[in-house]
Amino acid sequence: MKVFVSNDVNAKGIELLKQHFDVDVMPNMKEDELCKIIGEYDALVSRSQISITKKIIEHATKLKVIGRAGVGVDNIDVPAATAHGIMVLNAPEGNTLAATEHTVAMLMSMTRHIPQAHQSLQEGKWDRKSFDGIQVQGRTLGIIGVGRIGSRVATRMQGMEMRTIGYDPYITEERAHSVGVELVDFDTLLKESDYITIHTPLTKETEKMIDAEAISKMKDGVRFVNCARGACMDPYAVADAVKSGKIAGAAIDVYPWEPLTKENNPFIGLFNVVQTPHLGASTKEAQIGVSVDVAVGVIDALEGRPVMTAVNMAPIPKSVAAVIQPYFKLAERMGTVGIYLADAAITDIEVEYTGDLADTETQALTTALIKGVLTPILQERVNYVNAGQEAKKRNISIKESKSHKPSYYHTAITCRLKTSKGEHEIVGTLFNGNEAKIVGIDGYRIDFKPEGYLILAPHEDKPNMIGQIATLLGQAGININGMQVGQTGHEGMNIMAIAVSNDLPNDIILRIKGIEGIQDVKMINCEGI
Ligand code: NAD
Ligand code: MLT
Repeated sequence: MKVFVSNDVNAKGIELLKQHFDVDVMPNMKEDELCKIIGEYDALVSRSQISITKKIIEHATKLKVIGRAGVGVDNIDVPAATAHGIMVLNAPEGNTLAATEHTVAMLMSMTRHIPQAHQSLQEGKWDRKSFDGIQVQGRTLGIIGVGRIGSRVATRMQGMEMRTIGYDPYITEERAHSVGVELVDFDTLLKESDYITIHTPLTKETEKMIDAEAISKMKDGVRFVNCARGACMDPYAVADAVKSGKIAGAAIDVYPWEPLTKENNPFIGLFNVVQTPHLGASTKEAQIGVSVDVAVGVIDALEGRPVMTAVNMAPIPKSVAAVIQPYFKLAERMGTVGIYLADAAITDIEVEYTGDLADTETQALTTALIKGVLTPILQERVNYVNAGQEAKKRNISIKESKSHKPSYYHTAITCRLKTSKGEHEIVGTLFNGNEAKIVGIDGYRIDFKPEGYLILAPHEDKPNMIGQIATLLGQAGININGMQVGQTGHEGMNIMAIAVSNDLPNDIILRIKGIEGIQDVKMINCEGI
């Protein structure tokens, strides 16, 4: 088999690949050049030099796997790869320490103006007045996203005697405490922090999380660090706040558009900004680590072994595939509906299988359900192989049970999600053997397809509830694609499920919540799952 490796991948990983396959190490290529030759290859491995577009994937007729020597897969068209049956895998752990240490270095360099002072000396000046900094000791560091990198930044800055608070709605208090982080809500973090550092993946929720509005809630003279993903901030809002003095210092490694030039760099000429060109993972150790990890993944994939770092797929055991295969989409989407219903970090997931599913191996379906729970919050790397492991890391207890007790549906999946604030129950089944339907939510019997954008609204069972919501949606130009009201449920209460053409803006959600008799409104996005 033949493997294409771009020349930004460390030699260690390339050596490993060469022990198994024919390997061509190629310089940076334009899309059209790559399209001409990619048809010969079984695997493509790159750090970030190549953008692996849909067009390249369409020409990759033999390609079985794309390996990313790093964590972010934003340079790969993953849906296109999935549609062509190509596994995408990454190397999520190898550069964690490098990115952590870079964050700490950036934070300290910014605080003490080290690059600026160095530049001044290089220019032949002896200026000791322009570079006064502050001490970090005793100050509060707000960490947005307390995952692998965020938690390590926390423990390192605790070593510098900083107080560490964190905003991460997807981890438990217990997990946060274990790394010395006090969990707070987003606004509290913005208000209380002297320093703010972001370590989330880029998702719909985190895109432009640090914008002018968020900055306005920060302390005057706050310092800001971004070594995660550039699009998590609005760089112009950050630059404006530096200019006005609201932000006293910013340390930035990543940008919504890369590479930066003089023309498209919003931070040019700003004395209080320290910038690096996406160097978070640029250490010898990290580049060896990710190259070896990605090589091992590609070797496993091409030689037919399970891959722990697959981003978009995993082998399904053949013996059970025939029975469980039709239920995969249902299970995954039940998980997604569940995470949108949950008001706090999930602590327990219980999955009960009845009917045909009670007599077969259902572990893979439970994994699909967990993937559905975690995908909206961890986007880039939850897959059928690692979803269980990711849940475990977040201290989510998983229980599976089988039951032959008679129920309304011959075969069904019931999922119970517990959080510190309560419990949610979702029941799903297949109609006509392949049509995924949610048939129960929190004790209400209902019937809707978990697809596209959905609004779930428990409400008082009285006239004109539907009418009022429909009017609001109509006024906002939102098309209603389908509507269902619960058939049985709680005394005096009901639930409605409305399928809509697009995501609802927050103000419309708030206005629906404001309708008298509406108990809650959950906007669920099943798109892209
Ligand atoms: P991770 O998945 O281990 O941690 C991400 C954390 O963010 C999770 O705990 C998750 O619960 C939390 N999160 C998700 N959505 C959130 C939201 N809306 N609000 C608050 N928290 C939320 O990821 P990681 O490995 O720690 O990586 C963090 C970031 O660093 C990623 O964006 C990654 O691509 C980036 N990264 C950058 C470099 C670099 O070179 N600068 C190197 C490595 C990683
Ligand atoms: C990553 O996604 O791993 C990082 O952005 C680092 C990189 O690959 O350069």
